[in-house]
Amino acid sequence: LSAVDVIRTKRDGHRLTDDQIDWVVDAYTRGVVADEQMSALAMAIFLNGMDTAEAARLTQAMIDSGERLDLKVDRPTVDKHSTGGVGDKITLPLAPLVAACGAAVPQLSGRGLGHTGGTLDKLESIPGWRAQLSTDEIARQLADVGAVVCAATEGLAPADKKLYALRDVTSTVESIPLIASSIMSKKIAEGAEALVLDVKVGSGAFMKNLDQARALAEALVGIGKQHGRKVTALLTDMSIPLGRTVGNSVEVEESVEVLKGGGPRDIIDLTVALAREMLALAGIDTDPAEVLASGGAYETWCRMISAQGGDPEAALPKAKHVHVVTAEESGVLETLDAYAVGVAAWRLGAGRARKEDAVQHAAGVICHAKPGDRVSQGDPLLELRTDTPDAVAAALEALQGGYAIGDAPSEQELLIDTVR
Ligand code: URA
Repeated sequence: LSAVDVIRTKRDGHRLTDDQIDWVVDAYTRGVVADEQMSALAMAIFLNGMDTAEAARLTQAMIDSGERLDLKVDRPTVDKHSTGGVGDKITLPLAPLVAACGAAVPQLSGRGLGHTGGTLDKLESIPGWRAQLSTDEIARQLADVGAVVCAATEGLAPADKKLYALRDVTSTVESIPLIASSIMSKKIAEGAEALVLDVKVGSGAFMKNLDQARALAEALVGIGKQHGRKVTALLTDMSIPLGRTVGNSVEVEESVEVLKGGGPRDIIDLTVALAREMLALAGIDTDPAEVLASGGAYETWCRMISAQGGDPEAALPKAKHVHVVTAEESGVLETLDAYAVGVAAWRLGAGRARKEDAVQHAAGVICHAKPGDRVSQGDPLLELRTDTPDAVAAALEALQGGYAIGDAPSEQELLIDTVR
């Protein structure tokens, strides 16, 4: 087998054989296939696609490139994965909620890249909290608390780590078979028996339209089933930010409100919808809406944060500089574009421009109004928070055209569809 032959097969629009896929992933992980060859193959896959069986084999090869976590607990294990969005803090209330209802939730999470936020970056705004756990620590916390949100261990799907970094710099990220195999290789190697996927659609998501998002959801569910996992995907709206906060510590604060029985309606609704699917796959008959409203998941949250060295009662970092954008006229907020708000938060310092950058814990955007809210001229619309006031101009530029005041909000359902 040779890299040139494998690239030519896909370049000419043919299926890759199982042997070709296994060989190229293994050789790439070992450094025998060069980055430029893997880049060419990624572009050929981007342009010519893969069928479900090829994508499932690619997933398997990436799992086999590293270790698998073996999480033995005496409760059913179930995880959730979101394809990424703006203000998407759902893991924070969801993991302790599902654990409080009786399942075990091992959630290996990522960091933000570009305009999308990362769960680990948000949790690191809690003083003392540690993202990096050993496999033993993960297993122990899962048994004691029922929920772990932490970084993937080093040895998990190393082929995906290398390939993802390559795709990021070769414009080959937005390929359905590549995204699906990347996500599912990590989730299957992590070992949860069941998985609920939150596939985002809209300006703030990877998939901007419903047809693409549905195709991604079907590819993810198809791969999961081929690997014997119970998988459901929800298609949910990402055309406006989720909740009223976008950033790091501000999203933790909003999540804690939800865990205490309050918080914005959309966060509550999506958390409960995902929890219902997770509990259904785990075979647990408890109503998550009741547990959330009663504040019953807050205690699990505190134990989850403490177990990883964090102080759940500590004051969170506050930004040094605040700039308020006010309504230029009176009316109804018609639109608030997720991508524009995501880019604004990123420029304020909530996200990173390069992988090695640090994020500002307190940077972000507070949405004082959401689409459908009535506003009067001069009311605060958006609050920009940062430690670097020079960043405000770039954030304001990103928000140009990102919101509109009129007399009727555009209608957009949060929960669009379910793929089983
Ligand atoms: N998230 C991943 O883990 N991989 C992708 O390719 C895209 C989003």
